[in-house]
Amino acid sequence: MESFSFYTLSIVLFLCMFYQSSHCQQTYPKDFDISCTGYPPLSRGYFCNGTLQSCKSYVTYRSQPYYNTSDRIASVLGSEASTIASINKLSNIADEIPSDKLIIAPITCSCTADVYQHFVPYRPVSGDTFLQIVNRTYQGLSSCQAMMGLNYYDANKIPDDVELMVPVRCACPSENQASNGVISLLAHMVTTGDSVSSIAELFGVNVQSILEANMLSHDSRIYPLTPILVPLESKTCTTDPGSFFCDCPNGYAADRVSCKPDPKKLPVKWIALLGIGIGMGFLFLFLLGYKLYQFLKKR
Ligand SMILES: *[C@@H]1O[C@H](CO)[C@@H](O)[C@H](O)[C@H]1NC(C)=O
Ligand SMILES: *[C@@H]1O[C@H](CO)[C@@H](O)[C@H](O)[C@H]1NC(C)=O
Ligand SMILES: *[C@@H]1O[C@H](CO)[C@@H](O)[C@H](O)[C@H]1NC(C)=O
Repeated sequence: MESFSFYTLSIVLFLCMFYQSSHCQQTYPKDFDISCTGYPPLSRGYFCNGTLQSCKSYVTYRSQPYYNTSDRIASVLGSEASTIASINKLSNIADEIPSDKLIIAPITCSCTADVYQHFVPYRPVSGDTFLQIVNRTYQGLSSCQAMMGLNYYDANKIPDDVELMVPVRCACPSENQASNGVISLLAHMVTTGDSVSSIAELFGVNVQSILEANMLSHDSRIYPLTPILVPLESKTCTTDPGSFFCDCPNGYAADRVSCKPDPKKLPVKWIALLGIGIGMGFLFLFLLGYKLYQFLKKR
């Protein structure tokens, strides 16, 4: 089994290289395994080959007791509470979220040792094991293998008062995706009842783009407790500027992975300056006219 998945992976990677590496998206980890044994190369994270080194990215998280406010979810995921609140339309970062509600959180994704990761410091509670941390607290967004690669403690006997580093899985768009208008990738854990089309509908993207992003075909199955990537496109931003992933300040437009000044939209600052300039001009003309009037009157 181990060698089988290794060979499958090698063949896929070989075909990728043959085909042209920039065309390769990420492989859907069908035999995804968060456990501490075995050889699950894809369970460590998505490979970063040759494209972006760092990018803005998203993960989904299901609220659960304790991790049930924007504030606490932000701290466990190394995200930003106010952004979580605004994306998920919560009025306050301390508002309690009902259990099992799907929350979208932004993270910064970077390439470290060939794998895309987002590191979060985590203080274990007593009795925690690596497997419990990745399964319960991180809901499969990390794996025991990835934890073991980063934290040199016994996976089942973590000493008291230590701080662990949790590598959260994420990915950046490939060159091919970027040129097709993908600005970010969202890592979503598949749950029972999910299908590619239900996921596409949930995030407002098309089925084909999800299939391509995960190198799946129309008849492929997806499995609960495996991660799937959802490509978020700038096209959606133009039709729906309120989309959570393309919130740019006034005068800026979403461009690939960041907000760039938009020449078509003058920023508020410039409009204000222009207004002040015109106002000053009129005042000057008025004063000049007044002086001229006084001067002429005197004569
Ligand atoms: C991608 O990176 C992995 C891990 O470094 C490597 O084994 C693989 O050959 C690379 N694939 C391509 C298509 O470059
Ligand atoms: C949120 O978590 C706290 C602390 O674990 C718990 O007391 C509370 O009941 C939870 N609230 C909801 C709505 O689940
Ligand atoms: C992770 O947690 C789920 C639900 O609690 C459980 O069914 C599953 O067996 C756990 N996975 C591992 C590898 O422990």
